[in-house]
Amino acid sequence: MKALKKIGIGITTTSVVGLLLLAPFGKAAATQEVSAANAADFYKAKCTACHGAKAEKKFDATLPEDQLVDAVLKGKKAEKPPNMPSFEAKGVTADQAKGLVAFMKQLKSSAGN
Ligand code: HEC
Repeated sequence: MKALKKIGIGITTTSVVGLLLLAPFGKAAATQEVSAANAADFYKAKCTACHGAKAEKKFDATLPEDQLVDAVLKGKKAEKPPNMPSFEAKGVTADQAKGLVAFMKQLKSSAGN
């Protein structure tokens, strides 16, 4: 029992440290939840640096949906660095990746390009 308790405390401490490390990247990262409501927050925190505020950069919305979702999950090599990182490795699920792709398409079409 004592050993189990120790493991429990260890896990709690690790998660607290994890949250503190993630804190600078915003609340969306800390919860690792990407829903329709916060895809915008997550996109802003994690994606604008490379893809721009309107998804106008490095995003070809005419590619098939599964390729776009796959790029978010598995990453994608660019002709020139930086490459697209794998967000599956950071805890993003297939559903969340779909939500992000849908959000990017919406951004892009509202920008009129
Ligand atoms: C470090 C820069 C970087 C970050 C951060 C980044 N991407 Fe990318 N992304 C890329 C590059 C580079 C490509 C490949 C573009 C190409 O092939 O011309 C790419 C490709 C994609 C694609 C496929 C579209 C295409 O035209 O290839 C999607 C979808 C995508 N990213 C979504 C996202 C989302 C969602 C996020 C945030 C969760 C994100 N990216 C964060 C650099 C980045």
